[in-house]
This record gives sequence, C-alpha cells and structure tokens, in this order.
Amino acid sequence: MNRLNGKVAIVTGGASGIGKAMCVAFAREGANVVVADIDEGKAQAAVVEIAAHGKATSIRVDVTDSASTNAMARDIHKQFGRIDILANNVGVRIVKPFLDHSDADWNVMIATNLTGPFLCARAVVPFMKQGGSGRIINTASIASFVGRPNRVAYVSAKAGLLGMTRAMAIDLGGMGITVNALAPGSINSPMNASQATDEENNWGKETPVGRWGTPEDIANAALFLALDESSYITGAELKVDGGWVSTKARAGELD
Ligand SMILES: NC(=O)c1ccc[n+]([C@@H]2O[C@H](COP(=O)([O-])OP(=O)(O)OC[C@H]3O[C@@H](n4cnc5c(N)ncnc54)[C@H](O)[C@@H]3O)[C@@H](O)[C@H]2O)c1
Repeated sequence: MNRLNGKVAIVTGGASGIGKAMCVAFAREGANVVVADIDEGKAQAAVVEIAAHGKATSIRVDVTDSASTNAMARDIHKQFGRIDILANNVGVRIVKPFLDHSDADWNVMIATNLTGPFLCARAVVPFMKQGGSGRIINTASIASFVGRPNRVAYVSAKAGLLGMTRAMAIDLGGMGITVNALAPGSINSPMNASQATDEENNWGKETPVGRWGTPEDIANAALFLALDESSYITGAELKVDGGWVSTKARAGELD
C-alpha cells in the first residue's frame, strides 16, 4: 500500500528499536523517511535496512539542543519541500533509587524526554503550518500513567509528555495538525534487551496478552496515527502495552 506516498516523515531516535520499526512502517507506505538520531553511524546503518522497504535518509540531531532541532527542520524542508509527520520518539531511561538521582540525571531525563519533543515540534510546526496539515506522534510510556520504581525523572518526563500532547493538540488544531501520544509497555527493544532475553523474566506474562511487545507493535499504532484515517483523533493517548496498565489481577484470581 502507498498510503503515505509523497509524505515526509521524521522519526527521532529512528536509528534503533521502536523508532527504526516506525521508519520501516512509514517507508513501506511510501513516505520519504528521515532517520533523525544523535548516533550518525547507527542512523546510516538503519537507512540501509529501511531502504529494503522504501525511501530513507538520515540526519544527525541532538533533540536537547534547539540549534540542532531547528537546523534539522530547515535542512529537511530544504531537501524535500515539505514536512508531514514528526514521530517524537527519542527517549532515554535512567534507573536508580530516588536519592541517587543527581542533578545531571534529572536534567538529562527532562531535557531528552520532555524538552526534546517540544523543541522538535516547535522546529517543524512552521513547515507543517505552511503545508496546511501535519501529524505529531509522541512516544510516551506506561510510565506516563503509573509510578514505576527507581525511575522518578523518567516517570516525571513521560507524564509531562501527555500534558504537552494535550496542550499542543489545542494550540496546533487550527493549523490542521494533530498531536497524539503512544504509550508502549514492555517492548523487546535494545532499551530492555537484558530483561527481554532473561528466561526468568515475567514482564510479558504480566499482561493479558501474555507476551512482551515488539517494536513493530508500536510502529503499527504510529502508522495508524500518521494516516488520513485517524484525522479525527487528537490530544489522545493510545496505550500499546498488552493491557498492562488497564488491568490488575490479585494472586489466585486468574485460577
Ligand atoms: N522499550 C520499551 O520497552 C519502552 C517502553 C515505554 C516507552 N519507551 C519509549 O520508546 C522510545 C523508544 O525506545 P527504544 O526502546 O526504541 O529506545 P532505543 O534506546 O532503542 O533508541 C533510542 C534512540 O534515541 C537516540 N537518542 C538518544 N538520545 C538522543 C538525543 N539527545 N538526540 C537524538 N537522538 C537520541 C539513540 O541514539 C537511539 O538510537 C523512547 O521514548 C522510550 O522512552 C520504550
């Protein structure tokens, strides 16, 4: 299918895991995909993989730096003449006890996971506005909805990202731009490689679906939010977590 034919899609953090799967999903539908990542080598390697499915190129960006995000948007618009889709997918996670979170830990979590999506959106929105439409898809987390242990800064940033999604949906609605959030659960990506490959690990079995999620599970949802068919959805959050956040069973209740 070519449901994104002619469209330009930027995927931040597109060099790895969930972002790379989004790139493949968008490329398969005919989009010109831009892998926007801080790791140039990994981004170029991802382009080679994605090229088997469609059109892809890469650009180096540090989402925490507005000079870098502004240059990214300018360069991509110069190259393609339009920007249609922004998947704000970069995320980093520090896991350590509350009292061990240093100033630097807190600042990098907020800068990357919360300020980053804002800076990328602010950089591309003028070009989307010029084109009369746009799609912004923020990768939030199950940590946007529930407290998670030893992740105070990550949880704070990801919860904030839902608020930002709602506020942006209002501010950008008149420009024809929709803004939505995806909330992945336990996904077998490099971020979780050690847990996902641990035979003793039960995170997948804790979900009603009964398995770990895959990057493709998230990419399928991102694709839906990028298509014309989802044009009446904005300011929304879609959990793609096998039902983990919405369900709780006490010991013995499932027997
Ligand atoms: N994997 C999971 O189980 C899971 C669960 C919930 C939410 N998420 C979220 O999904 C998103 C993707 O996760 P993933 O597991 O695919 O991550 P990943 O670690 O595989 O990939 C993250 C990518 O972001 C890039 N990056 C890091 N800092 C950057 C910066 N400052 N500027 C530009 N690029 C930068 C990295 O180079 C890397 O390619 C993140 O926002 C994460 O918080 C993941």
